[in-house]
Amino acid sequence: MILDKLYLNMIKQAIIPLAGLGTRLLPLTSVFAKELLPINGKPGIEYILDECMQAGIKEIVFIISKKKNIIKKYFYNDKFYKKILKKKKDKRIISEYKKILNYRKMIKFVYQNTPKGTGDAVLKTKKYIKDKHFLMLLPDDLIVKKNCSKDMIKIFKKKKCSIMASMIVKKNNVSRWGIYSVSSKIDKNNFYIKDVIEKPKIKEAPSRNAVIGRYILPNEIFSKLKKQKKGKGGEIHITDSIRSLINEGNQFIGHNFEGEYLDCGTMDGYINSSNRISKL
Ligand code: G1P
Repeated sequence: MILDKLYLNMIKQAIIPLAGLGTRLLPLTSVFAKELLPINGKPGIEYILDECMQAGIKEIVFIISKKKNIIKKYFYNDKFYKKILKKKKDKRIISEYKKILNYRKMIKFVYQNTPKGTGDAVLKTKKYIKDKHFLMLLPDDLIVKKNCSKDMIKIFKKKKCSIMASMIVKKNNVSRWGIYSVSSKIDKNNFYIKDVIEKPKIKEAPSRNAVIGRYILPNEIFSKLKKQKKGKGGEIHITDSIRSLINEGNQFIGHNFEGEYLDCGTMDGYINSSNRISKL
């Protein structure tokens, strides 16, 4: 009984979809993975990993593709480091290598070789997810100044239900995001969600509450994803499966996070992210 209670309180596993083509960042992504592009001197993915570690995550599943094997190589380039370190004992390189080894201990890789959407990517992690709830982070969305994952895990401990990060967006931008409607308010920054729609047209949008890339999802999502039909743009969307869960009475909270949002998935956003982080 006590063990069961502890188990329900835990979010120890995270997944990160990294198989996307990154077309919004071409030409940078024609030969390189966008998640390794430096943001103020540090690969974007390391900000996401640091957020996970500081939030108490112990195991992270990367969903990559054959085309993005460079991401795996970044964490498994031992021969290269050992050769360099044999020649010169550079303190900076030693500490960077140690940091990479430390990240690597937590990471597992699964493959999504055809980009069929975020929902399909999530389904690939099924065999690794043991807990009842897990965290998902979308690496295009950086949230700085406050650890959003950590705050969501705190809310999870109290409410024991699924959560999605959110923020209010401009009306003419709603079709870029998953948009949700509120069923009731919990407090200033948290709401129970009534419904969620993937990238609605301005006229169809139920609000300006956009879903941002941090999710605490229930294990039940996998059985929904297995049956999930293609949605907008012919992709399998996580939002559509979340919608079915909500319709069946699963509780989801929308959490308006306190940190600063940086969109690293577009060229303008990417350039701005480096500028903003350099000033923190
Ligand atoms: C994905 C989700 C969308 C969400 C967004 C947050 O879209 O499908 O619901 O609002 O992430 O960044 P994508 O950015 O993959 O187009």
